Amino acid sequence: MRASAAFTGTRTVTPRRYLMCAPIHFRVSYSINPWMDPERPVDPELALTQWEQLRALYLALGHTIELLPPVPGLPDMVFAANGATVVDGRVFGARFATAQREAEALAHLEWFRLNGFTDVCVPEHINEGEGDFAVTDSWVLAGRGFRTTHRSHAEAQEFFGRPVIGLDLVDPRYYHLDTALAVLDGDEIMYYPEAFSPGSRAVLARLFPDALQATAEDAAAFGLNAVCDGRNVFLPLAASGLFGPLRERGFEPVGVDLSELLKAGGSVKCCTMELRPPVPAASGPEE
Ligand code: ARG
Repeated sequence: MRASAAFTGTRTVTPRRYLMCAPIHFRVSYSINPWMDPERPVDPELALTQWEQLRALYLALGHTIELLPPVPGLPDMVFAANGATVVDGRVFGARFATAQREAEALAHLEWFRLNGFTDVCVPEHINEGEGDFAVTDSWVLAGRGFRTTHRSHAEAQEFFGRPVIGLDLVDPRYYHLDTALAVLDGDEIMYYPEAFSPGSRAVLARLFPDALQATAEDAAAFGLNAVCDGRNVFLPLAASGLFGPLRERGFEPVGVDLSELLKAGGSVKCCTMELRPPVPAASGPEE
């Protein structure tokens, strides 16, 4: 792990608005990534309890949660971050790579329409929302190789008017960018280098020379599938190797147990789509 200069400032929370979808219909009934084994039992009640705990943590720390209604027959819908990318209140819709998840994109579009979002792109090319798009102050980092296609990167760049940096994912266990890289604050990230091609690793090293690099162990515990509000970093409890390095940088790690959802290859970040402002006022009772 790379040593960093000691952080001396203070980290401040910026209240966020997140879109989540309760795992009411969650199960592992198909396999579209190496983590999913339909033979392995899943406890749907525990999945719901764990997800509720994540939502309660966000609320307790001052964030607003919007809820996307779960649709029967779409067991992966709990991974709400995959359904779009929202930057500057503008919605870049998803187009899923697999038939099993295809219908989720429409459910998201419907939610955005009903909730007052007017600048919405229904994309031509395959992209799995924030699963593969990570937004820093200066760039939109974009994964490709397993789900999201490079053509969608150009499409996203044109829509957002922000530079999109394509990154090649090479390990099937880290099939989405958000399984291998997390944005902490501003232009600060943490990532697992081995999930990327040598060229993409070099790009990351050039853009983020001081980034926190995760070990294989913390990556395998889905430690990079994390959400940061400027100060708190919500991440799987099992990725404890990241806690110390995060604290050294002034962040507050908040461990969350989402073990049931991990059986589908997702964790904290996958469950959390960030609605980046300006966004229409919340309509629900969750504020
Ligand atoms: N079973 C889902 C899939 O394979 C998990 C998605 C998890 N989301 C994520 N952003 N990595 O598509």
